[in-house]
Amino acid sequence: MDTSVAVPPCNSCAIARREFLSRSVITAAGALLASACGTGVWEPLSPVVPNGGVTLTLADYPALATVGAIALVTPAHGTPLAIVHSAASLYLALSRICPHQGTVINLTGSSFVCPNHGARFDSRGRWTGGQPTSNLVALPVTYNATAGTLIISA
Ligand code: FES
Repeated sequence: MDTSVAVPPCNSCAIARREFLSRSVITAAGALLASACGTGVWEPLSPVVPNGGVTLTLADYPALATVGAIALVTPAHGTPLAIVHSAASLYLALSRICPHQGTVINLTGSSFVCPNHGARFDSRGRWTGGQPTSNLVALPVTYNATAGTLIISA
């Protein structure tokens, strides 16, 4: 004896399923946006340097006259940078993009901290604690003592 019951197609069920899927996509997108916690700005992980590099005139950054000083620089069309006067006539250019997920890191004293998940880096860009990640990316710097300029390239 056959006890199965034929169930007629349910048009209202199909509409409900479509609506459910649509709402699920919207909810998932909202959750993804909400997961971008912290107050940091997110950037691509690989540093972006404009063609021809970024040229800085040291006279515009008087704080960099001192060895050990750090200046934050945000090029018009490039990655936010930290310039470190690491030794006499030596400068270091660090990408301020956190290697964990791309948040712009902040300077705190003579080191850096990511506002998003707390990764910390020393003045050389080496990871020192907090969220495990790699070191900050160092970019090539050409120092021209005569012109008093730094050229940061990719
Ligand atoms: S984005 Fe910097 S620690 Fe996560």
